[in-house]
Amino acid sequence: MDIESASNKTEISDTLRFSNDENLNTLLKSVVGEVTAHAERLFEQIKKLSDIGRALSGVYDLNTLLEMIVDQARNFTNADAGTLYIVEENTLRFKIVQNDSLKIRMGGKDGESIPFAPVELNESNVSAYVALKGVSVNIPDVYNTDLFDFTGPKKFDQSTGYRSQSMLVVPMRDHYGDVIGVLQLLNATNFTTGDVTTFSQDYESLTESLASQAAVSITNAKLISNMAELFEAFVKVMATAIDEKSPVTGGHIRRVADLTLTMADVIHNTKEGPYKDITFTQDQIYELRIAAYMHDIGKVTSPVEIVEKAKKLQTIFDRIQYIRLRMTYISQKIRLDGQNAQIELLKNGSDPKKINDLEKETQVKLKEVTEIREFINKCNEPGEFLDDDVIDRLKEISQMTYTDDEGIQQPFLTEDELLNLSIRRGSITETERKKMQDHAAVTLKMLKQIPFTKKLKNIPDFAGAHHEFINGKGYPLGLKGDEIPFEGKLMAVTDIAEALTASDRPYKKAMPLETVYRILRSMAEKEELDNTLVELFIEKEVYKIYQQKYENGNSKDN
Ligand SMILES: [Fe+2]
Ligand SMILES: [Fe+2]
Repeated sequence: MDIESASNKTEISDTLRFSNDENLNTLLKSVVGEVTAHAERLFEQIKKLSDIGRALSGVYDLNTLLEMIVDQARNFTNADAGTLYIVEENTLRFKIVQNDSLKIRMGGKDGESIPFAPVELNESNVSAYVALKGVSVNIPDVYNTDLFDFTGPKKFDQSTGYRSQSMLVVPMRDHYGDVIGVLQLLNATNFTTGDVTTFSQDYESLTESLASQAAVSITNAKLISNMAELFEAFVKVMATAIDEKSPVTGGHIRRVADLTLTMADVIHNTKEGPYKDITFTQDQIYELRIAAYMHDIGKVTSPVEIVEKAKKLQTIFDRIQYIRLRMTYISQKIRLDGQNAQIELLKNGSDPKKINDLEKETQVKLKEVTEIREFINKCNEPGEFLDDDVIDRLKEISQMTYTDDEGIQQPFLTEDELLNLSIRRGSITETERKKMQDHAAVTLKMLKQIPFTKKLKNIPDFAGAHHEFINGKGYPLGLKGDEIPFEGKLMAVTDIAEALTASDRPYKKAMPLETVYRILRSMAEKEELDNTLVELFIEKEVYKIYQQKYENGNSKDN
């Protein structure tokens, strides 16, 4: 008896008319009992359905989700087998195939791969029909119907000894009402006897609800994964733009990211020492990876002529060319002035000794210019540290003058040339260094503007801290000690290590690892880098692990 018939007042009153009080009580109890039991069952099923819905909405991995949908739908209806198809390129692709009796579990996260070809969207196939029409089909026995072509299942039965019987096929509609997949359940079994039975009307509508919830969850999972892919692509495009901006530092970001992940992996697997209790979850590793990819994003604003400055006089080109031309001009001018003076002396019938002396004077001047030219050439190289006497000599030269074409007195070296040539170490001036350092502040500023999701919320702080020093003398914020996030300290080590080991920087040739280690240790001693992290980097040979894992074109992101 179902709810409708039990609540049918006419039927009940007819029955009561011919009963005594005792019978009436028994009957009433029985009716109430059945109604209650049915209501309880329905309530249980609805509760189960909402539990399933809640569970589905918390799963974002598509394969896990699809498997869960079939598991839950089968569990719910006590079906022996189930198949889930997704509509792709005008076909139905098998995503999950399960059959308990035959011990088949295909698709999903850990299941075997599915060898079946996609189903064409042809109305003679029951699943294709459901996908095309968007309606459910409930068949008590597939051997007793000619509505659809069941040759395939029958052949399958023949080869396996299985007997396909009851079948419920429901469409999976997303929030737009579009059918995105089909759920097919096979052989509902009686919960008590275990016999194959038909799928009841109640199950049909509840399974439809489940399928719709599942479809929305699938769409969500797909959207989330698309969003993640889009975001990753954006991050990589930015990293490529920065790496490409300067061929000299090309690949730095990718290498820092790979080196950072190698180091995090080593820390994660360290079972002794100061990092024995530090582990990273998959989400934390992902966050760190994106932070590493974005650590130098602020370099989009760094002037390319500074980033690429290989020689001290370099701007967009090396200004040494100017100085060479100037020196050639000065030499020719000296020669010309000397010759003119000699002509004048000859015209006046002067003593040949005077003419000779003049020639000697010219030669001395020319020699000095040649020396100056070579000296400046040498100073333009960033390699050696400049002593005070070199700087004094440069100042002297900058005080010397010559007369240009227009008769105006010009210095041998302009103020800006003197400033650049006087760089004691490296190739950039203090102003240029400050501009370069700006990139860390810009990184922080740019990343703070991105509305990161909860799982990625630390990216600005991690990435923005890669130039902070433990002693508080770093930049952009001058954070000190534990004010710097652990991940920022980690990236500070990998960033420097990459820069030192890179062979593509014009002013820094690739260094032997021993030298790199020495520099890292001296930076740790000065409390610039974290000492424990530097020692781990060296002791665990993190760089060598990175080389084996990622170099030779092995990068995950290549
Ligand atoms: Fe940086
Ligand atoms: Fe960097």
